[in-house]
Amino acid sequence: MNPDFQFPDSFLWGSATSAYQIEGSPTADGAGPSIWQRFAHTPGNITHGDTGDVACDHYRRFESDVALMQQLGLQAYRFSIAWGRVLPDGTGSVNAKGLDFYERLVDCLLAHGIQPMATLYHWDLPEALDNRGGWLNPDIAHWFSDYASLMFRTLDDRVKLWCTLNEPWVVTDGGYLHGTLAPGHRNLYEAPIATHHLMRAHGAAVQTYRSVGQHQIGLVVNIEPKHPASNTEQDRAATRRADAYMNRQYLDPAIYGRYPAEMGEIFGDAWPQWPQADMELIRQPIDFLGVNYYTRSVNRHDDSAWPVRAAPVRQSQATITETGWEVYPQGLTDTLLWLKNRYGDLPLYVTENGSAFYDPPVAEDGHLDDPLRVNYLQKHLKAIHHAIAQGVNLRGYFAWSLLDNLEWSHGFSKRFGLVHVNLKTQQRTPKSSAHFYARVIASRGAVLNEPQVLADTLQSTTV
Ligand code: BGC
Repeated sequence: MNPDFQFPDSFLWGSATSAYQIEGSPTADGAGPSIWQRFAHTPGNITHGDTGDVACDHYRRFESDVALMQQLGLQAYRFSIAWGRVLPDGTGSVNAKGLDFYERLVDCLLAHGIQPMATLYHWDLPEALDNRGGWLNPDIAHWFSDYASLMFRTLDDRVKLWCTLNEPWVVTDGGYLHGTLAPGHRNLYEAPIATHHLMRAHGAAVQTYRSVGQHQIGLVVNIEPKHPASNTEQDRAATRRADAYMNRQYLDPAIYGRYPAEMGEIFGDAWPQWPQADMELIRQPIDFLGVNYYTRSVNRHDDSAWPVRAAPVRQSQATITETGWEVYPQGLTDTLLWLKNRYGDLPLYVTENGSAFYDPPVAEDGHLDDPLRVNYLQKHLKAIHHAIAQGVNLRGYFAWSLLDNLEWSHGFSKRFGLVHVNLKTQQRTPKSSAHFYARVIASRGAVLNEPQVLADTLQSTTV
């Protein structure tokens, strides 16, 4: 064992999931349907016509899933709450059975010594609210803070870490600009409006937390370092736009109360001037920042890449995951240092990090070897250690994901789990990566430098 990679005792080791991706039974026990329910049931939207109707059946199997987390030694679990389970119409009357599900989940986690981190919004907006305009309706800030208040009043005695939104960039980019995710709109003028009301909703929920909650609340963003493909001014300008669009568009308003200057350059007259009072609402002091990190991108100027005019360039020497993402662990160290330098010494959590790779079938002896995922995990855990050694205030790490789950519009075709899920039998099989992670947790990082059977040079099969 190598003491060089020892993490602090207080460091929190966890894994993350989200409601629509694992729970199944999305309309059971009085729950109202979400935009993902409608999107998934619209032919052509999801690979193989997959839906979240059953998913990992976690809604009914959460107790055994929590027992499995305990076996793996997880100390924390980040899950999301399906808004429509607790408020079927998004506002108004409460569904006691939905609320009860999350109370039982939290109680079960605590009984197993696992600290819950709850995310209020991981993309599954109640359909009833979408019918009223969804993220385009300014009233959504109040709808969201009322829902948040209900959850704080119900669970804050047991949940000490809260996240408002998961990856607002993806909500807007996939849901309102490119139409690849629910609600499937493709509209340049809608995207800035959705962004702004997401951020107002975040601010309103944090404000509510200060009067109702006692613990900690933060925002979760996805960050991708953006590198220029060449040193030309055109490529560097394209890279600055890509960085503003993805990395600063949500953090600058949340921390500094202003949007990046590049937003007007990207959206032209579709980018509105927002009232200063809105920016004050958005800029609420938060207790921590959650960062989801998967990859970096290398960019060149491309006028046809609407609307940012920056196109990613594939790296020929890299290992590429099944979702087409370059494995680039250095980017995680860089991201954490960048957050510290740009946004100050806010406590950070890596709230997601993981990889989809082709997995072989479970062997007869019950093994499933996933060397590429082990390799990914090992390198990214070393990367966070490097960041801590350079003074980053990183409090914990949540591997994405506990289970193979519904990877949004890819359906079940991309597997991110540390634990394999047989979708016919719902049998759970921890992969080598789960066993590796369990050893990392048990040794608080010290095993990270042990030689592993790593297949650095192997490429994922579908590249
Ligand atoms: C999301 C997850 C998703 C993962 C892998 C993140 O953008 O928060 O829901 O499954 O990335 O694509």
